Amino acid sequence: MNDLNALVMAAQSAFEGCHTQADLENAKAQFLGKTGRITELMKGLATLPTEEKKLQGAAINQAKQAVEMSLTQRRQALADEELSSQLKAQALDVGLPGRLRPTGGLHPVSLTLERIEQIFDSMGFEVAQGPEIETDWYNFTALNTPEDHPARSMHDTFYVEGGYLLRTHTSPMQIRHAVSHVKRHQALLDAGQVMPEIRVIAPGRTYRVDSDATHSPMFHQCEGLWIGENISFKDLKVVFTDFCRTFFESSDLVLRFRPSFFPFTEPSAEIDIQFPSGPLAGRWLEVAGSGQVHPQVIRNMGLDPEHYMGFAFGMGPDRLTMLRYGVNDLRLFFDGDIRFLSQFR
Ligand code: DAH
Repeated sequence: MNDLNALVMAAQSAFEGCHTQADLENAKAQFLGKTGRITELMKGLATLPTEEKKLQGAAINQAKQAVEMSLTQRRQALADEELSSQLKAQALDVGLPGRLRPTGGLHPVSLTLERIEQIFDSMGFEVAQGPEIETDWYNFTALNTPEDHPARSMHDTFYVEGGYLLRTHTSPMQIRHAVSHVKRHQALLDAGQVMPEIRVIAPGRTYRVDSDATHSPMFHQCEGLWIGENISFKDLKVVFTDFCRTFFESSDLVLRFRPSFFPFTEPSAEIDIQFPSGPLAGRWLEVAGSGQVHPQVIRNMGLDPEHYMGFAFGMGPDRLTMLRYGVNDLRLFFDGDIRFLSQFR
């Protein structure tokens, strides 16, 4: 009996000493295999007398069951260990902070352009786009600025092969848009009828040989044009005042139309604004050129200046952005420094 207990304990400690399933199968063979120690004991029963056989047989069977049980337990323990070390190896640490993906935002000047478009849209203006590489005709001549005109010297620009130039202002869009508008309604005009009014703004990039804190060789302008049968300077004042007060969210904003000269308008005015309060209060700040469209320009649009008249203006969205956000150096807009740009998100 004691021998059997010792045998069971030997089997248990052999199984405990195994750390892989393969080792455990080898250890099992030593006790339960064909020539294993338990099996050998069973074989030895054959030579015993019947009574003895019964007693010994039952004891050996018990020992065998005990060995089998500890084998099963060890198998399970090894499987558990394997699983938990696998889980540890594949661990997902949900405690790690997430990776930040910063969201982009519109450039401050783009925000201003969107705002300008929204406000003029609410006043019934279309938005037109035109080429940045222009012909001399659209940029100067059609705008009543012939080749020897001194006004050209203020518009030094970059000339491109083939007689093209980088447009110095968005004013060429007055002609381009008006000409295509007139073409579309030529049948009405030929029949002596009145064509629908031209009411458009044209924002975009413009170029001049200029560079300092308030001038950049590439800058933005937004042109405005309203042509009809009886559109006058009075309408310009109403529209532009309304625009400025909406844009700057200040109903007390004051405007001044200061006499000036542009070849394509007569009379012409520069438009200044004055804030009623805030850091810029009391100063006159120039925001646009404007005027009543010159009869020669009306003619170049394909219209009769005896029947059609209107106003035009050209403003600087870069400058409007500087005023709105209190930025004092224009170059910041075009440096592309994310620390500056992210403040407008
Ligand atoms: N194109 C002019 C410039 O860049 C600005 C301007 C003045 C535009 C008068 C206009 C206007 O439409 O009527 O200096």
